[in-house]
Amino acid sequence: MIGLFDSGVGGLSVLKELRAKVPEADVLYFGDIANAPYGPKSKEELVLLTVNAMTMLHDRGASQFVAACNSVSVSVIQPIVSMFGEAPGHIIEMVGPSARAVKKTAHEKILVIATEATVRSGLYERTFQQEGMEVSMLAVPELAFAIERGAGQDEIIKILKPAISSCSQENISTLVLGCTHFPLVKDILTSELQKGVSHPVVIVDPAHAVSEEVIQQFDLSGSGKLTFLLSKDSETFRRYANSLFGDAFVVEVLE
Ligand code: DGL
Repeated sequence: MIGLFDSGVGGLSVLKELRAKVPEADVLYFGDIANAPYGPKSKEELVLLTVNAMTMLHDRGASQFVAACNSVSVSVIQPIVSMFGEAPGHIIEMVGPSARAVKKTAHEKILVIATEATVRSGLYERTFQQEGMEVSMLAVPELAFAIERGAGQDEIIKILKPAISSCSQENISTLVLGCTHFPLVKDILTSELQKGVSHPVVIVDPAHAVSEEVIQQFDLSGSGKLTFLLSKDSETFRRYANSLFGDAFVVEVLE
């Protein structure tokens, strides 16, 4: 069984891709809503939260893991991957697949928007550099939590303004969504880019590439069972889960 985890709703953007491609895979999803957002947290805090999440998923039968969170990927998983040259055991993170996916496309001027933890780590720059690409980074600190608490369109548009200006001023051609929460507002982002930037900008959602790597590397046999473990109940989470997966899942709140 696959254990997929994030601070909250963000991992649903990865799960959506995976589920569309392999509906038969059994997935246990941990959303750590009690500790969201992860973006402002220190590396030490993120290490503890990751150990907690993976232990919980493992104790409930998960043997293959997807860190569907960039903040965790850059602070905990990617440093281990770099140390060993590959992921130890069955674990897939966000940054490597994202760099490999962008490399395959036209990518003249790349901007990655992400949380503070992801920007602070410098790992996107290093990983993309290893693949022969330069990237600029921009933290959009409030966006993940605004999505997590179900903020309305006007608030999301206001938070996105600096990212839209950067795309325009820096002549960005490829915008990488370096936080798994961000694809959940991709429609708003697309329309703001169309209004605020005079040249075309390609949006890259790494969820596609991550789900492809999961398919290549994991055993996906199962009966399509989907369980959400939440460290705190959330109306927003239930709403997103319903809109993406109907009612074909079980929710367990660990309060
Ligand atoms: N979705 C996560 C990420 O990709 C965490 C966002 C947050 O909780 O701040 O970084």
